[in-house]
Amino acid sequence: MREKLLYTAQVKALIDKVAGLDNAEGDQRLKKIVARVVTDLMQTIEDFDVSPTEFWAAASYLEKVGMSHEMGLLIPGLGLEHFLDLRMDQEERAAGLIGGTPRTIEGPLYIEGAPLSKGEARLDQDPETGEVLFMDGQVKDAAGKPVAGAIVDVWHANTAGWYSHFDQSQTPFNLRRRIETDEDGRYKFRSMLPAGYGVPPDGPTNELLAAIGRHGKRPAHIHFFVSAPGYRKLTTQINIDGDPLLHDDFAFATRDELIPAITHHTDPAEINARGLNEPFATITFDFTMHKEAADLPKAVVERAHAA
Ligand code: BEZ
Ligand code: FE
Repeated sequence: MREKLLYTAQVKALIDKVAGLDNAEGDQRLKKIVARVVTDLMQTIEDFDVSPTEFWAAASYLEKVGMSHEMGLLIPGLGLEHFLDLRMDQEERAAGLIGGTPRTIEGPLYIEGAPLSKGEARLDQDPETGEVLFMDGQVKDAAGKPVAGAIVDVWHANTAGWYSHFDQSQTPFNLRRRIETDEDGRYKFRSMLPAGYGVPPDGPTNELLAAIGRHGKRPAHIHFFVSAPGYRKLTTQINIDGDPLLHDDFAFATRDELIPAITHHTDPAEINARGLNEPFATITFDFTMHKEAADLPKAVVERAHAA
């Protein structure tokens, strides 16, 4: 049995120096976090007898993740974005905030500045073949009162699972809109039912997932930020019911309360009444927001977005 270097005075002193704990300068909390992360990494190296060759392979891997702009994929794939959600849920519960529409991960594919319209919008601007979706609902407060003037910022993938901006073949802001709720707190939009998303098959996220026997796919879903003055910003998604991966999301974002019923309409009269030639789908989903208060944990997550 090899001696555990981690517990020697020499390595303890090394960690203290590495994290700046032996001086009075800098950020005290950051020093402690750096010390913990370095200690945990050293412990992993010792416990699993990680060789220098393996270690440098891991370092190159992380470099590749950054260079491929895949941090936003790897983090949810490792369950960490969902873990941050669970922590925010826990903090809110502790502050007495119960109920409301559950949050779920933002993911890395939001773009700021989508076109804004009142009450309703059409999201699909590029021609696609697939099932037309009409979605509507109401934004309410915890007492069930409609929230007029809320902004429903919605974005989703196309029928091939790709997001505009990241997929240069789509026009800017395709399948991305901001809708201001009407005086009854209502929003509605027309779009195309999205397909599920998959991480790039040749990228480093998929490389790690495949190496641990996992896939990098998400079930079909639609993202929302819902915000209104005086209310806590809600970051959430709905899933498209019936997707085979509904409960097998590589990013762990599915929540039971976020799977609304979907109706597939095949009646020719209904199809005709909508001005369509093919069957279409409808979903109704209401959002319940909480009022903001000074003593509540922060609802807004600041995060860099692609631009
Ligand atoms: C998405 O929302 O599509 C997504 C979320 C996490 C990782 C990759 C994609
Ligand atoms: Fe998504």
